[in-house]
Amino acid sequence: MTLSDEDRAKRKFSPSDIDRILTTTFIHAVDYYETLPSTNTRAIELATEEQNEGKSPILVIADSQTAGRGRGLNRWWSSPGSLAFSVLFRSETVQLPLKHWPQLSLAAGLAVCDAIELLNCGPQPSLKWPNDVLVKGRKVSGILAEVAGKQPGNLIVGIGVNVNNKSATAPPELRSNVIALGELSPNQVNLVDVLVAILQRFDARVHWLRSDPDALHSEWSKRCILTGKTVEIEVHSRRMVGVCEGIDRDGALLLRTPSGHERFLSGTILSYD
Ligand code: BTN
Repeated sequence: MTLSDEDRAKRKFSPSDIDRILTTTFIHAVDYYETLPSTNTRAIELATEEQNEGKSPILVIADSQTAGRGRGLNRWWSSPGSLAFSVLFRSETVQLPLKHWPQLSLAAGLAVCDAIELLNCGPQPSLKWPNDVLVKGRKVSGILAEVAGKQPGNLIVGIGVNVNNKSATAPPELRSNVIALGELSPNQVNLVDVLVAILQRFDARVHWLRSDPDALHSEWSKRCILTGKTVEIEVHSRRMVGVCEGIDRDGALLLRTPSGHERFLSGTILSYD
């Protein structure tokens, strides 16, 4: 279907924006849609299509998602003005040992923090393990990392960022917990600038993972909002409370609980204070 000029003008990304993404970031190919159920779901499909073999990273982006997915069974709230995209990495082109793949989502979280600071659109972003980016204690971005298909080697990192959407339009149960970059900055925030900055910083952070994982670990530790706080975590329907002692080199959350030290590679944070 060809778009009319009017429809084209309504799109979030113009052909020159796509060109800018391809020429200034590590993205090798862009798959852009007006509407998708979920960019992560589309990236999983792409990973299994033979004609895409060898190309990576591929960016899947949509102006809007109708069934954006969060971690577990959560839905991702996205409304006009927000940014939703997924990056598909293939092991043969990303040159990152498989042991570091679980840390890609933390690298992505750091990249979002970096971009917020670089663009001056919010004070002191922090990371809430495993994959939320918070500003002023409210969620500005969520990250969903998934493995595509049965064979190891296709990893998808989906990132949602509240940019020019309004927290007042979020579902009532989320409203006081979320915030958009546009609500933190006196200036209009440019969606393409945010996307390009995140992708550039993501590339830089993936390089750190390859060359200096310890330095990356120290950055996570600086940003971790849970360190020193009493945290309640749920893992496979089991709840535990402990004092957070940071994140280790593998990206696991460390808690000091009444029964000893515990290490969590996954889980949901129910509360912290
Ligand atoms: C979370 O906070 O639980 C993770 C949210 C991840 C949302 C993004 S939006 C782009 C990509 N597509 C999806 O369906 N989900 C991720």
